[in-house]
Amino acid sequence: MDKSLIQKYNVPVPRYTSYPPANHFKALSSQEYLDEVRQSNHYSRNNISFYIHVPFCQQLCHYCGCNSVAMASDERVSAYVKALHKEIDLLLPLLDKNRKISQIHYGGGSPTSLPVSVIRELNDHLLQGFDTIEQPEIAIECQPAYLTASDWNELTDAHFTRMSIGVQDFAPDVLKAVNRKPSLIPLEEVFDILSSKGIRVNLDFIYGLPLQTVDSFAQTIERAIRLRPHRLVTFSYAHVPWVNKRQLILEKYGLPKEDDKTAMFQKAKDLLLTAGYQPVGMDHFVLPDDSLYQALKDHQLHRNFQGYCTRAITAQVYAFGVSGISQLDGMYAQNTKNIEEYLQNVNEGILPIVKGYALNKEEQVTRSVIEMLMCNYQIDWNELSQLLNMTISDIKKATAYDEVKMADFARDGLIQMDEQRIVMQPEYAPFVRNVAASLDRLMSNAAPNFSKPI
Ligand SMILES: C[S@@+](CC[C@H](N)C(=O)[O-])C[C@H]1O[C@@H](n2cnc3c(N)ncnc32)[C@H](O)[C@@H]1O
Ligand code: SF4
Repeated sequence: MDKSLIQKYNVPVPRYTSYPPANHFKALSSQEYLDEVRQSNHYSRNNISFYIHVPFCQQLCHYCGCNSVAMASDERVSAYVKALHKEIDLLLPLLDKNRKISQIHYGGGSPTSLPVSVIRELNDHLLQGFDTIEQPEIAIECQPAYLTASDWNELTDAHFTRMSIGVQDFAPDVLKAVNRKPSLIPLEEVFDILSSKGIRVNLDFIYGLPLQTVDSFAQTIERAIRLRPHRLVTFSYAHVPWVNKRQLILEKYGLPKEDDKTAMFQKAKDLLLTAGYQPVGMDHFVLPDDSLYQALKDHQLHRNFQGYCTRAITAQVYAFGVSGISQLDGMYAQNTKNIEEYLQNVNEGILPIVKGYALNKEEQVTRSVIEMLMCNYQIDWNELSQLLNMTISDIKKATAYDEVKMADFARDGLIQMDEQRIVMQPEYAPFVRNVAASLDRLMSNAAPNFSKPI
């Protein structure tokens, strides 16, 4: 990639895991959320997705950008789980029982810091009273450093269809520098247990961590390929010490430079493509028979805060637990991040919403355009026009679409465009965020504290 283009475009821009990005959230009451929840029973896309956030981790990794806290006492964890059940009881009666569950996702922190029997009870609670679609996605993020073979076996019996395992890196010196332990039992053994029960597996990796080199990260990816996960994610390390001060500890080791990071990703990508994986979105690689790849080919890829999903899985998302974000067609609503406040609110029978965003019509249109671009690496104006039942010109007017800016992207080689489509060029894929930002009316008054594309 041309160095001057890296300089021009490697500037802070949102990741657009949602539109508008979460930094635009403002105060929102639980009453406003409740009104929207009732409304959501009538949306045309009315499947149900539940998200449960478990913030606790047995040991905190220095790089972590997620909402994680050190493991609490047994009493506190029990109080948290009790509150989760109570919060579920506050919401479920509002949902139309004829709707179906298409997705349940446990994220964190480390959901697997809870005993497996407790996780199973949460799943039982969510699943009682609703049918599911034919192949729902019931997934959990697993921290393998603390899971025994018997835990893994028990997990396979708790309704899950997919497990995401956080590996990050196999190199012991890298793991030590970031304060993380390797998997308790060999991943080969974990894969045997999961595949015997038909559970699909994702592996998470991060590049850009201290002590990683192009060669060392390549070795990590080669080892991962031998395990043959269905999906593999290579996250670019997001250094955002203003969100998580712990990340400053990593600066004493020195972080890989931008060029090295680009080379790490490129080498990993080459290895994965050679091994038959297909790239999906910014950082996912999947086996060719994976539903995400099919969705990408059909331009039907979507995403929510839980990650990429197919159209069948896409639903209204109702979140539980601290910091959980519900994503309904007309509104985002986020729970408090404060565990004390969360427990108090829920125990008083109040949904613990603190902030969020009600989207106006133009913003809902912009969300569809940006989502199509971010997921499918192209904007097909005709397809959008049919989907939104609007003219192409009205769609462009609803966004910050600017002919001059688009022409500049095209001159720099980032995109190819004609009347019908804007298509990202594969070699400039990391800059899809910049093209998305040019469509975003809210960008002009945005705070500059975003991570950089590379
Ligand atoms: C909630 S965590 C994973 C669950 C589990 N606690 C674990 O560590 O295995 C989700 C994923 O986010 C990624 N992640 C966390 N902090 C990150 C950062 N600062 N930059 C990029 N990716 C990050 C990691 O790959 C991690 O597996
Ligand atoms: S990466 Fe996972 S285990 Fe590490 S601190 Fe973050 S959430 Fe916890």
